[in-house]
Amino acid sequence: MARKISFINYKGGVGKTSVIVNLASCLAHRGHRVLLIDLDAQSNASIWLMRLERWNALNSQSEGSVFSIFEPATVHMCDCVQKDVLEDRNGTKLLPGLDMVPTTFRLIDLEHDYQPPAGSPAFLTFRDQIAELEKDYDYILFDCPPNVLRAAQCGLFSSDEIYIPSNPDALSLIGFTLFVEKLGQFQELSASFRRADMGRPAEIQGIFFNSVKANVDIEVPKMRMQFRLNQFRTQKKTGASAKIFNTVIRDAVIVRRAVTLGLPVLLVGQQPAGESVIEDYFSLADELIAPGPAARTNPSPLAGFHS
Ligand SMILES: Nc1ncnc2c1ncn2[C@@H]1O[C@H](COP(=O)(O)OP(=O)(O)O)[C@@H](O)[C@H]1O
Ligand SMILES: [Mg+2]
Repeated sequence: MARKISFINYKGGVGKTSVIVNLASCLAHRGHRVLLIDLDAQSNASIWLMRLERWNALNSQSEGSVFSIFEPATVHMCDCVQKDVLEDRNGTKLLPGLDMVPTTFRLIDLEHDYQPPAGSPAFLTFRDQIAELEKDYDYILFDCPPNVLRAAQCGLFSSDEIYIPSNPDALSLIGFTLFVEKLGQFQELSASFRRADMGRPAEIQGIFFNSVKANVDIEVPKMRMQFRLNQFRTQKKTGASAKIFNTVIRDAVIVRRAVTLGLPVLLVGQQPAGESVIEDYFSLADELIAPGPAARTNPSPLAGFHS
């Protein structure tokens, strides 16, 4: 059964999409079956992994994206899965094991025009569709928008765990604080819709820092984040063992280049000397797979990796 995980922060631009795309790729490279679901109407993860031409074709259709499951025709989510989503221009599969449910700009209609059937909010429809897929995957990852509106609620209600990508700055701390407040409100609002077979509501299990520049000391922002996290943990607003990850994702030009190439960093190939951000993504994957000291002492995050 899949571990279902939302990546979210109330602040935009912290690197949610970059981390989720690269993390999902590392997990697939490690041999896990991964489904990435794009819940942000900006469609950044979808455009990145499908590349513009394929995504443009999808964006002009009414079916095949995550919004299709909310249409009257009731398309099933499994019909929207792009199997082994990464392809080269000849259609050769580049990373077997990484599937995606893409989104298009239409997802924004979920927030405005969509009229949910009585007694069945969007997050419940979505959760039931996830239930049909979860046996096929080890990880289902939700790339959420920076809010707790309907699309994000779909991910949060369907998740077991929540992680908060952050930058080492004051605005990320504010984003985290706001998110905790909004999550609490949503958990209360959605509690009566949670059936026994759905398990417990997702809790925040971790925070990690992304896009950290070389020679920048993050001890102070890390300490402030840890202080806030401790407060929320004591108030039971996060998981009891929620932590700040040891792994820090460095700031690296290749991350931005990878978007342009339509590839995760691990498939970009040769990295400039001193830029091994790929090791950070593998290390994050290892901490996520096996939280605790065992994962952190993995001697070779690149074991089995060939660019
Ligand atoms: N580790 C990194 N190094 C350099 N640039 C990064 C890194 N992570 C993200 N970025 C860049 O930061 C910007 C915002 O990242 P993105 O993943 O789109 O954030 P979000 O999904 O939170 O809005 C993008 O231009 C992306 O290329
Ligand atoms: Mg994004």
